[in-house]
Amino acid sequence: MYGATIDLMDDPRDDAEKLAAFEARIAAGEKIEPGDWMPEEYRKQLIRMISQHAHSEVVGMLPEGTYITKAPSLRRKLILLAKVQDEGGHGQYLYHAAETLGATREEMLDLLLTGKAKYSNIFNYPALSWADMGIIGWLVDGAAILNQTMLAKASYGPYSRAMIRICAEENFHMRQGQDIIITLAIGTPEQKAMAQDALNRWWWPTLMMFGPPDTDSPNSTVLIRWGIKTKTNDELRQTFINQMVPELQSLGLEFPDPDLLYDAESGNWITGPIDWDEFWRVIRGDGPMNKERLGARRAAHEDGQWVREALAAYAEKHEMTSAVL
Ligand code: 3HC
Repeated sequence: MYGATIDLMDDPRDDAEKLAAFEARIAAGEKIEPGDWMPEEYRKQLIRMISQHAHSEVVGMLPEGTYITKAPSLRRKLILLAKVQDEGGHGQYLYHAAETLGATREEMLDLLLTGKAKYSNIFNYPALSWADMGIIGWLVDGAAILNQTMLAKASYGPYSRAMIRICAEENFHMRQGQDIIITLAIGTPEQKAMAQDALNRWWWPTLMMFGPPDTDSPNSTVLIRWGIKTKTNDELRQTFINQMVPELQSLGLEFPDPDLLYDAESGNWITGPIDWDEFWRVIRGDGPMNKERLGARRAAHEDGQWVREALAAYAEKHEMTSAVL
């Protein structure tokens, strides 16, 4: 799927000894760095996860990008513009983190643009009103913060450090979403209804963002074993539900879940069943906006061809490597 395995160094130990030493480092809480020995599965899992995370950040610019020209005030426009620009920057951090593992930008983008690589399910739903900007900021970025705060402790150094920097900006993203929804919820009945409609449409897909149930999460075992994930999909999802339900109910908003109930014994909010058929359908390309999202990314890539060609010509003329561009 990606370039040849990097021959990191001549090491006299056999693979079993290398793996034992690697796992001892993980257990000791050490960070694995690009030049260190790592199991090939560790490297491939990280490239898969980090590149798809990067794709998600860049595709995630699309739903909010359409509302920059529809913002209700100059202030809201500037805030949304800053958020969308942040997401693009997050994508760059993450593509760079994946490149430290031997993946090339061209390979990663080719897998996205040919539909072979995934990006977060959540960005395959349409944004239908200004309230969607608030719910995306509050819920989607709120979910991302929980996930990324966990990943800031990941065993792979470049990913962990990228997450620390990204989380700082995500907090601003969530706060601006909260501000939009609070403004609408205490506004006119029509504004509150717009916030309620957005919550109805985004709640369930946001719960799916955390990934399939632990019983159906083929990658989790090895990711937890090697300290990339430190919590399971279901654990993070439950933390998110427990955080969000009281907050949004305090605004008089209701959840699109007649089975939602509070279990005093566990202290958890228990939701009704999540439609995992919808989740798998959407991530396999059959969601409401998959074609539009990939179409937009393909068009942007094609439009940027001349820039890549000009940079390559300049580099060749000046005998520069891509590393210095
Ligand atoms: N959307 C799309 N695909 C998903 C998914 C989701 N929400 N959740 C899981 N999948 C895919 C996995 O990629 C995997 O497919 P693959 O093996 O072909 O890659 C399959 O479903 C099985 O899922 P697993 O649980 O086994 O996969 P993981 O262990 O990788 O867990 C994950 C999934 C929790 C998304 C994990 O990959 C992860 O934490 N990734 C990094 C964070 C990330 O990508 N976040 C995306 C949102 S970015 C964002 O929200 C931007 C913010 O600024 C708004």
